[in-house]
Amino acid sequence: MGNGMLNVAVVGCGYWGPNLVRNLFENRFCHRIVACDLELAKLQKIAVRYPSVEVTTDFQEIVKRLDVDAVMIATPLSTHYDLALQALRHGKHVFVEKPFAASSEQAVRLIEEADRRKLTLMVGHTFQYSPPVTKIKEILDAGELGEIFYISSTRVNLGLHQKDVSVIWDLAPHDLSMILFWLGEAPIEVLAAGRDFVQKGIPDVAFMFMRFASGAIAHVQVSWLAPSKLRRTTIVGDAKMLVYDDTEHLEQVKLFDKGVNFKDPDTFGEYQLSYRTGDIVSPKLESFEPLQAEVTDFLSSIIQRRRPRSDGEAGLRVVRILEAAERSLMNSGHLELLEIARRM
Ligand SMILES: NC(=O)c1ccc[n+]([C@@H]2O[C@H](COP(=O)([O-])OP(=O)(O)OC[C@H]3O[C@@H](n4cnc5c(N)ncnc54)[C@H](O)[C@@H]3O)[C@@H](O)[C@H]2O)c1
Repeated sequence: MGNGMLNVAVVGCGYWGPNLVRNLFENRFCHRIVACDLELAKLQKIAVRYPSVEVTTDFQEIVKRLDVDAVMIATPLSTHYDLALQALRHGKHVFVEKPFAASSEQAVRLIEEADRRKLTLMVGHTFQYSPPVTKIKEILDAGELGEIFYISSTRVNLGLHQKDVSVIWDLAPHDLSMILFWLGEAPIEVLAAGRDFVQKGIPDVAFMFMRFASGAIAHVQVSWLAPSKLRRTTIVGDAKMLVYDDTEHLEQVKLFDKGVNFKDPDTFGEYQLSYRTGDIVSPKLESFEPLQAEVTDFLSSIIQRRRPRSDGEAGLRVVRILEAAERSLMNSGHLELLEIARRM
């Protein structure tokens, strides 16, 4: 890094890694790209599309190279810890795709290693960079919804069944990272129910419930076994309500001036409820690819020596909820208490 730009290696060029390569290729903070995968055929596809990108099947070569500043890891979850730890130990800044690590112990180890070496550690919570999600954050922070009563999120479609992780570890990180980002707090209670319908031992349908210290509650439904693709979140506050539908092309966010007014019994003799249905507003959203904003945050946080929005701690909070949810699911929906910092 001499010219204010970075040389970055992408490790894992399966389904998701090529998206990282493309966004690095278009990023003003990225100088050179090295792509790494165990399978040569995957690297050949990258080399055809981006002739200037160097390719290698040897991860050790990447970490030993002095001219590689940062490593972005898009390999299966079971490999995240080992690859990230090796990269940190060789002085590389590290980005790890979601979910951050396979256990909270692993996540803590990676955070400690990065902190000790003063290296940037970031987790790929892509939705935290998406225009509808950041707009909702603005709306909530401005208090437009009032006190948040509950959030309900649905992320279901047919497939893709994973071989090594449950649907909770595969899909719920998206909803959890959004919910924690919006509420600015982590849950104190988690429970989950689900089933392994297709592959025994790998749950493919799960219903999660969370309770927060603020009083808010949240529900997340994830499934690889559904007839249609749904990506829909409802947020209900005491002032207004909001629906975010990520499958919509227009009007992804709708703000409803709807609610219930409770009239004080002291004034009216006996209490009365009235239902309010006002305007429905769809706020204007910026238009950019979330992954580009995410890559920019990673590279600029290295250059500016600041923490990225989705840092290791954010990754750890999500991993702790995933662990608790999976424990609960395996234990007939047992309520799991989380001892994590409530405010973030
Ligand atoms: N942020 C998002 O929206 C998003 C979307 C999809 C996937 N992901 C995440 O990206 C990661 C990868 O998912 P995927 O669907 O691309 O998986 P994939 O199986 O399609 O690809 C993984 C690739 O990693 C390679 N690989 C495995 N071990 C390696 C090693 N030691 N060195 C080099 N290469 C190695 C494999 O050969 C394979 O090509 C997962 O953590 C997943 O959760 C994130």
